[in-house]
Amino acid sequence: MIRYLTAGESHGKALVTIVEGFPSNLPIDSEYINFHLKRRQLGYGRSIRMKIESDQVQVQSGIRFGKTLGSPISLFIENKDWANWQDTMMVDKQSSEPEKVTIPRPGHADLVGVSKYNFNDIRNSIERSSARETAARVAAGTVARKFLEHFGILIGSFVESIGGIYSSQDYYKQLLQNKKLSGSSGWKISVKADKSSVRVLDPAQEKKIIDKIKIVKKRGDTVGGSFVTIATGVPMGLGSFMQFDRKLEAEIAFHMMSINAVKGVEIGSGFSSAEEFGSEVHDEIIMDKNGFSRKSNNAGGIEGGISNGLPILVRSAMKPISTLAKPLQTIDLSKMKKVSSRYERSDITAVPACAVISESTLAWVLAKHFLIKFGGDSMEETTDNFKSFTKNFMTRIHKGFKQ
Ligand SMILES: Cc1cc2nc3c(=O)[nH]c(=O)nc-3n(C[C@H](O)[C@H](O)[C@H](O)COP(=O)(O)O)c2cc1C
Repeated sequence: MIRYLTAGESHGKALVTIVEGFPSNLPIDSEYINFHLKRRQLGYGRSIRMKIESDQVQVQSGIRFGKTLGSPISLFIENKDWANWQDTMMVDKQSSEPEKVTIPRPGHADLVGVSKYNFNDIRNSIERSSARETAARVAAGTVARKFLEHFGILIGSFVESIGGIYSSQDYYKQLLQNKKLSGSSGWKISVKADKSSVRVLDPAQEKKIIDKIKIVKKRGDTVGGSFVTIATGVPMGLGSFMQFDRKLEAEIAFHMMSINAVKGVEIGSGFSSAEEFGSEVHDEIIMDKNGFSRKSNNAGGIEGGISNGLPILVRSAMKPISTLAKPLQTIDLSKMKKVSSRYERSDITAVPACAVISESTLAWVLAKHFLIKFGGDSMEETTDNFKSFTKNFMTRIHKGFKQ
């Protein structure tokens, strides 16, 4: 069973994650992790912070000469901005403390954080609830992604909409119809999306979105959007219906919803399927050279909590950033008086970054279920188990039904 924990405050010294449970002999290096960390930092509409940080992982353990050892992998990402925040983020008690933050922003973790943990400074809530933590998650998820790549499972994402601006082409619908976008693999979709500063597949839509972000910025406002995460090459059989908490879609939804500001998740045709006939929704079963396939993929690659061999399709919604330059109404907790919310350096939108984070998130869930199914302490053992399952898959089914 793989697991990871992250630690670190937004303006603290660093973010740290310990990743455990991957087999030995998986080839991986810092450059690969850094490549995906950089992707998380891109996107039009981000704050100046992204110019300060240029995330570089320091691998502290678990990898030797470019291969995993099977031991815990500890990853350390320095916060470059810490240099500007040292006085505010001192570890040890000081004779004087920085000015306290007393005005909570609606939509952020400020008020709930101080109420729950009995803080007298909202800074204590801001620091850990910040999405800066997702850099550590991306680092952990990148180990999972590398592991999956070895088995031909490739993950990608693209932004579907920002501020309500969609492409005239319905790419998600095309995926539900089992059409291939930008070649056959999930990753190729990301390669195309990464060429756009807002990670969309349609250049005309990109222009409209950038114009909208400019207007929104001028107004002192923020915007959210939706994005699609896709995994191709996923074998049939990950997840289970034997117990509620082993259902693949349940775990994907849980992990996606754990990303900051993600407020909605659907698998396959999710919400629209509620309005359609069964004959329009369910993916008819056909034979192909590898075994079974489907005419469509409205199920988003999962039936009964188990992957069915088709691409996994997930669509998520991100709410607008809650720190607004044109502030909303709130209360100053030190005076218990009505005031305007405070502004702290902030993104106008972070949907492109969120989509990148979702790739690591999906990778983590799939790697977990892959290892539950195929196991193994070394990559060689896991590969043998996987090959034996796929090689004998159809034979096993035929035999079983002939008996
Ligand atoms: C990549 C990314 C960047 C974000 N940047 C900001 C930001 O600059 N300012 C802000 O107020 N919220 C930002 N958020 C959203 C907050 O982290 C989030 O709204 C907050 O933690 C409260 O959690 P909740 O929205 O999930 O309830 C960002 C989220 C993500 C995923």
